Amino acid sequence: MGLPFSFMGTDYIRLIVGNAKQAAHFYQTQYGFELKAYSGLETGNRESANYMLQQNKIRIVLTTPYLAGSPLNEHLRLHGDGVKDVAFWTDDARAAWEYVTARGAVSVQEPTVLEDDFGRVVIASIQTYGDTIHSFVQRDRYNGPFLPGYVEKKSAIAVQPVGLNFVDHFVGNQPENQMTKIAEWYEHVFGWERFWTVDDKDVATEYTSLRSIVMTNDNKRIKMPINRPAAGLRKSQIQEFVEYYSGPGVQHIALDTADIIATVDQLAANGVEFLEVPQSYYDELLERVGDIDEDISDLARLGVLVDRDEFGYLLQLFTKPVQDRPTLFYEVIQRKGAEGFGKGNFKALFESIEREQQRRGNL
Ligand code: FE2
Repeated sequence: MGLPFSFMGTDYIRLIVGNAKQAAHFYQTQYGFELKAYSGLETGNRESANYMLQQNKIRIVLTTPYLAGSPLNEHLRLHGDGVKDVAFWTDDARAAWEYVTARGAVSVQEPTVLEDDFGRVVIASIQTYGDTIHSFVQRDRYNGPFLPGYVEKKSAIAVQPVGLNFVDHFVGNQPENQMTKIAEWYEHVFGWERFWTVDDKDVATEYTSLRSIVMTNDNKRIKMPINRPAAGLRKSQIQEFVEYYSGPGVQHIALDTADIIATVDQLAANGVEFLEVPQSYYDELLERVGDIDEDISDLARLGVLVDRDEFGYLLQLFTKPVQDRPTLFYEVIQRKGAEGFGKGNFKALFESIEREQQRRGNL
């Protein structure tokens, strides 16, 4: 059963932040994104400053409202710096908007044609979980720097790309009892399917627990795990997110690399902070995942995690939150055949951490 439109991937991710000018510097110097386009007072935008940064196929837009009366301030007050819009690249924004609104999606913006000297873009938006939205972006041979209304802007510093290629997946955290409802909403409204993997089960240790359902569109260009907290002895990391984000929202964005050792070496040299992995994780790694191409000392030095499924293996690691609230963070991922999301790592990582705690007599 074909849909009357296609999603070809993620077009951009928009974050609302307190100070887009400074955040843009962070993404350039730490993550190797290049500043490409800008919209703000100087371009006639009286509402907000917007910086579009790009690395290969990944576009991040940073938006800050100018005036106290802007409705964007409420997003900042509730959520802090965070993801407002996960936009999908489509061949027909109007057809996508009509399809999903007919199935109950709430419209944020009706299909709108934007034009400038570089061509034409059709864009529409709908509401999803919490204050998050999805825009549908149809680029009809548009050859400007980003979208109509934006002007080209170049990085003032020499940016070194770190080899991040595209958005592999993005994860939505939900409060208690909302995960299944949200998954069913994507099934019903978008016609997406559950991407059955081992991840689609409990990920739990005695102390830390979460549940996750992975949704994907028909061509699997968009993959979206949906998490919810599960009861454990301590506060779930998902529950912590929901408290600090004032509800559901995007927890992490996974960015693909073809060489995770080189990418993470560079990111770490740039000052990116990653979750620390106890040495004990590597003691049992080969036993758990079998033969891998990488040198285990490189993985241990950088804290790279490995997981295997029936199709192959993957390498991944997670940054610390990129703002003061313990909310949004990034994942760097390299797939060598594996289609999962690192379920074995959650368990192994949590258990390693707990073993360390036990050694210190704190468990
Ligand atoms: Fe992930």
